[in-house]
Amino acid sequence: MVIELVVGAFWAMLPAYVPNNAAVLAGGGAPIDGGRTWGGRRVLGDGKTWRGTAVGTLVGFALAFLCNAAADPVGSALGVTLPRFSTLGAFGLAFGAMLGDVAASFLKRRTGRERGAAFPGLDQLDFVVGALLLAAALDFAWFTGTFTLPVLGVVLVVTPILHVTTNVGAYYLGLKDEPW
Ligand code: CTP
Ligand code: MG
Repeated sequence: MVIELVVGAFWAMLPAYVPNNAAVLAGGGAPIDGGRTWGGRRVLGDGKTWRGTAVGTLVGFALAFLCNAAADPVGSALGVTLPRFSTLGAFGLAFGAMLGDVAASFLKRRTGRERGAAFPGLDQLDFVVGALLLAAALDFAWFTGTFTLPVLGVVLVVTPILHVTTNVGAYYLGLKDEPW
C-alpha cells in the first residue's frame, strides 16, 4: 500500500531528519576543526560545531525511542504498521546524518565554497547517505529489514522535498541564515 510505504519511510528516517534541525537550534561554540585550515581554506568551517553535532545526534537518537513507544498507537490510528528502531540502527541514523553533513562541509571547503554556500544536490542528500551508510554498517540485519528497496526509493524522493521545505521555513522564521 502506497500510504503505508510513504508513512513508514518517513517514520524510519525521523532519527536522521531531526539531527540537522536540532543542530541549527543548538549550534555555536567551538568549531570541530578548531579553526584549522587546509590548502588555505578552513577544514570544515565555523558552521560545524561540537555542540551542534552532539546535540543533533542525541536528539535524533532519543527520538527513535519515542517513536518506538509511539509506533503502536500512531500506527493503529493511521491504519499502518510502523517500523521499529534497533539501538544501533537508531544511533547510526542520527550520528550518520551529522557525519554526512560534516563530510559535505569538508567537500564544500575543498571546492572553494564559503560557509553557508549552497551545493545543490549535496545539501539535500548528504545526511541521508551518511545516515543510511552508518546505520547499515552498525546493524545490517535491522537495516535490510527496515530499508527495503521500495522504502529506499521513497526516501530518496521524499527527503529532498522535505529538506527544501523545512530549510525555507527555518529561513523565513529567522532560524537559519540561508534558505538551504
Ligand atoms: N550546526 C552546528 N554543527 C553541525 C551542523 C550545524 O553547529 N554539525 C549549526 C551551525 O550553527 C550552522 C547551522 O547549524 O551554521 C546551519 O547548519 P548548516 O547549514 O549545515 O551549516 P552552514 O553554516 O551552512 O555551513 P556549511 O557551509 O559548512 O554547510
Ligand atoms: Mg548551510
